[in-house]
Amino acid sequence: MRDDVVTPALATNAGLIHTIIREAFSGTDFGYQGEAELVRELVADGDELVSIIYWRNHQALGHLFFSRMNVEADGKLISAAGLGPVSVLPEYQGQGIGSGLIRMGIMILEEKGVDISFVLGHESYYPRFGYSPDLAARFASPFAGPHFMAMMLDSDAAWPLGGRADYAPAFGRMG
Ligand SMILES: CC(C)(COP(=O)(O)OP(=O)(O)OC[C@H]1O[C@@H](n2cnc3c(N)ncnc32)[C@H](O)[C@@H]1OP(=O)(O)O)[C@@H](O)C(=O)NCCC(=O)NCCS
Repeated sequence: MRDDVVTPALATNAGLIHTIIREAFSGTDFGYQGEAELVRELVADGDELVSIIYWRNHQALGHLFFSRMNVEADGKLISAAGLGPVSVLPEYQGQGIGSGLIRMGIMILEEKGVDISFVLGHESYYPRFGYSPDLAARFASPFAGPHFMAMMLDSDAAWPLGGRADYAPAFGRMG
């Protein structure tokens, strides 16, 4: 029988997370670009908001990370979470594990009362979770473009008219 669970990552899971991220990104067209080291730095800087692991029969198959962002909307600072990296071991991709992690991560952000989440990623994947390039386009960011998307975590909240969105400092130190 299959036993699938998602748990918060513990400090003792750091090695496991490193391996999942490295393997997941090594299997992409663009290759591994230090995403595991980035997560390590974000954690060391205290910029972790959500870090969760997907387990099947006690084997860790996927990981999702949200980092704290510095976001100003209509002149006020609001709480914001940047999605990524999200990683699934190559042989387990395409089975709904990444989607399961993202849906769970978004629920955790809602419970924490985070206002908005951003992602830089594929425009055919993230809109299914509620991310919109139109919302992100209202924010000035070095990542602005068709792959930059955002969602209000309270779906009843009005969209800000404009603002600025900055990822945590560790992103700026990426090579
Ligand atoms: C992206 C990733 C986390 C998705 O996890 P997954 O468990 O494979 O995804 P799911 O099974 O939940 O969803 C499958 C869907 O995602 C799409 N998908 C998977 N990887 C994708 C990618 N890199 N770009 C666009 N779409 C992607 C599939 O085409 C599929 O779409 P469909 O439902 O329309 O057929 C996983 O493929 C992965 O680890 N990739 C390598 C690392 C990476 O690129 N991470 C994202 C950037 S932060």
